[in-house]
Amino acid sequence: MSTEPTLSFPKRFLWGAATSAHQVEGDTHNQWSVWELENAHSLAAQAEYHWHDTPQWGTIQRAAKNPTNYVSGKAVNHFEKYEEDFDLLEAMHMNAYRFSIEWSRVEPKEGSWDAAAIDHYKKYISSLRKRNIEPIVTLIHFSLPVWFTDKGGFARKSNNSYVTRYAEKIMSELGSSVRYIVTINEPDVYAYCSYWKQEWPPAESSKWKAYRVMKNQLSCHRAMVKVLKKINSKYRIGITKNAVHFYPGDTAWLSRLSADLLQYFQDTFWIKKIARQSDFLGLNYYQSQRVLGYRVHNSEAAEYSDVDWMLAPADIEYVLERWHRQFKKPILVTENGLADATDEHRQDWLKETIIGMERARKAGVPLIGYLHWSLLDNFEWAQGRWPRFGLAAVHYGTGERTLRPSARWFGRVIKKIRGV
Ligand code: BGC
Repeated sequence: MSTEPTLSFPKRFLWGAATSAHQVEGDTHNQWSVWELENAHSLAAQAEYHWHDTPQWGTIQRAAKNPTNYVSGKAVNHFEKYEEDFDLLEAMHMNAYRFSIEWSRVEPKEGSWDAAAIDHYKKYISSLRKRNIEPIVTLIHFSLPVWFTDKGGFARKSNNSYVTRYAEKIMSELGSSVRYIVTINEPDVYAYCSYWKQEWPPAESSKWKAYRVMKNQLSCHRAMVKVLKKINSKYRIGITKNAVHFYPGDTAWLSRLSADLLQYFQDTFWIKKIARQSDFLGLNYYQSQRVLGYRVHNSEAAEYSDVDWMLAPADIEYVLERWHRQFKKPILVTENGLADATDEHRQDWLKETIIGMERARKAGVPLIGYLHWSLLDNFEWAQGRWPRFGLAAVHYGTGERTLRPSARWFGRVIKKIRGV
């Protein structure tokens, strides 16, 4: 492969990075922060069982066996250090940033709004605007107020009105300072990890409930779109969906059928339910999976990230082209990246992703932009702090941020493409 791809992205293309409130802000009080404190010891005790036969076990075991790894606490203190973090976006010549609003800050008690928290997000957005960085707001990114989850959260349809009320309140406060809105991040991942796999709060195991939680989130999306369009018809509103690319590892009919079925039930089935109500689809692409016979069986010869996801960055092209064929909607890559503490693979990942996106664009995919996950090393949910997804490395002792070599390379590429 040549060192620099030949590129023709349009001037308006959004180049940026993404984070979510609970993973970076610090000092949040929500269903996650409560659960972390209750579960940190058992997560630390289970770490060896989950990770001991991965190549990186030697380097991660100290952190992974330590209960404090599983408590978000101050996270990376982005709540106070956001100006410094926006400097990093500028250093990489980025013109977009996706972040989430922490609902539990804005409405800490049912029906009571925190003016100081709202003011914080107003200042935050205005700082991005001053830097000519397009703010892309996510309203719900996995973390929820405790009062809401105490009432049953997304498992109860009657709670949907709390979600739309929050969306209406925060967006009427933020008004036209924002154009792009993501209503809910990865509703399927939330439903699966929290209500099926028992890995995230409330750690229940009910397939039926997981289905209901998924359905209710999609209804909330549709209801939020209606309410928000009344506030400002110019809002561009979407949802994000995690997409794994499944492919048959051989030509056997069973492998082909299984890959098609997995693909269909993983994304087509759900996206069909909200595509009409969305101005764009947010794609979170991290990995591909090879299907042999009736199950996933990835190759041992492939390369893997620190969290054991098969590295197949170029496959983003197939996902983009498939979504375009199926839904005919503008697509924004809302997350894409890898856990790579040593930064060994990130630059190649970025390079192949850019080439994959360029190919998809040339094949007619209306791609709006690319947001790398993540701007910063952050709190990776049930795995805590050891996975390092950041373009900037964060030193958890001092809080110091340092752009990794791949990020500096990415910055130079963006500068060249944007001609800035
Ligand atoms: C989520 C992020 C998470 C990332 C890496 C996505 O599914 O939206 O919150 O950190 O994947 O696991």
